[in-house]
Amino acid sequence: MDTPRKLIAGNWKMNGTAAALAEIAAMADAARDLPPNLTVAVCPPATLIDRARVAAGEGPLIVGAQDVHAEPAGAFTGSVSVEMLADAGAKLVIVGHSERRADCGETNPDVRAKAEAVVAAGLTAVVCVGETEAERDAGDALSVIAGQLDGSLPANATRLAVAYEPVWAIGTGRTPTALQIAEVHAAIRSDLIARYGDAGAATPVLYGGSVKPSNATELLHVDNVDGALVGGASLTAADFLAIVRAAVR
Ligand code: 13P
Repeated sequence: MDTPRKLIAGNWKMNGTAAALAEIAAMADAARDLPPNLTVAVCPPATLIDRARVAAGEGPLIVGAQDVHAEPAGAFTGSVSVEMLADAGAKLVIVGHSERRADCGETNPDVRAKAEAVVAAGLTAVVCVGETEAERDAGDALSVIAGQLDGSLPANATRLAVAYEPVWAIGTGRTPTALQIAEVHAAIRSDLIARYGDAGAATPVLYGGSVKPSNATELLHVDNVDGALVGGASLTAADFLAIVRAAVR
């Protein structure tokens, strides 16, 4: 069975204007020296994708998007299609982030439709799953995640990554224990193999939630953790690159 590629992706959320492009240029410079089995991506707000692609130059740093509309075009005020994101230079799209599930009411079928649109256009979909604190406390973390996978994953694993982001670890400075992460990632891996066979064994499963330079080495070396989806610490090249280097060690 294939081993997954490693992927470290930065999610800038609603942060960043032109002044932040220097960070992307610095990330792109450093990314030139990375091993070929490690993909590094940064997902700025949609307004910066085009310029981020230019700032990243010809190197291997990938620019991605944080969300997309599932439909190809039409009367969807304020939304962008996958064709528009690809046209701007995006190669990867995060879908189903818990902030969109909670704040924008996105359901599993919504997330699946977005993921299908992304992969159909030849971009990579990063599908996010994760339990709330109440769900974990009730002992329901694994069943919640199984339901999210079942409802939101696309029909095939070509150009797919999954990100496990416990909602209570996002932006809080709190992280699960290595054992808790290993338990969830093993369950996600089994689900992916049952669903997709060898392609599921090769699908990167990322951990996200308060990943920092100080905890990256530990988090990135948990079994079945193939990379990270990084929020706050991806806003500066210095912190993001420290996390990327932890993935190489
Ligand atoms: P933080 O790294 O800021 O906790 O955010 C994680 C996240 O939501 C990435 O998508």
